[in-house]
Amino acid sequence: MHQDIEEILVSEQEILEISKSMGAHISKDYAGKTPILVGLLKGCIPFMASLVKYIDIPAQMEFMAVSSYHGGISSSGDVKIKYDLETSVNGRDVVIVEDIVDTGATLSTITKLLLHRGAKSVKVATLLDKPAGRKVEFVPDYIGKTIPKKFVVGFGLDYEELYRNLPYVGVLKPSVYQK
Ligand code: XMP
Ligand code: MG
Repeated sequence: MHQDIEEILVSEQEILEISKSMGAHISKDYAGKTPILVGLLKGCIPFMASLVKYIDIPAQMEFMAVSSYHGGISSSGDVKIKYDLETSVNGRDVVIVEDIVDTGATLSTITKLLLHRGAKSVKVATLLDKPAGRKVEFVPDYIGKTIPKKFVVGFGLDYEELYRNLPYVGVLKPSVYQK
């Protein structure tokens, strides 16, 4: 385990199991359709790569980059689009792929935006859900694991752009950000 990690919350093996079962679930729910998977950069990358291996229906992969965090460990709540989709979602079934839902601000804003752009349906698939962090009412459609209100890193999740490459999700030692 990395020296800055206090505890592993979701192991590599558990992430694999989550990817398999969520991939099967999405494949079943969208059978006969061609959904657009919209990954929210950069946090979505490891999970989206893992999840798509277990989606066995035709699916498009597209990306957006949004920010509600400006470094540090708490969300500012206002969502900015830093990189927009290069394809139209008009008339399409969309599955947003995210690393974590915390305050709910990002996902509720982006869901509304894509519906406003004419998406036929918008669902959210997230590796982690931190319901105790909610400031905006929001319930993800596919949840890998529900976690307590702790700041976590790894498997896409960062602290000041580091730790995204860890193969598991862990709790960052407070001494790292209290310096
Ligand atoms: P909201 O609050 O809008 O936020 O639901 C979703 C985004 O907030 C970031 N986030 C975290 N990032 N560890 C992180 O590294 C965390 O514990 C955490 N909680 C929220 C993340 O970027 C996510 O996309
Ligand atoms: Mg993110």
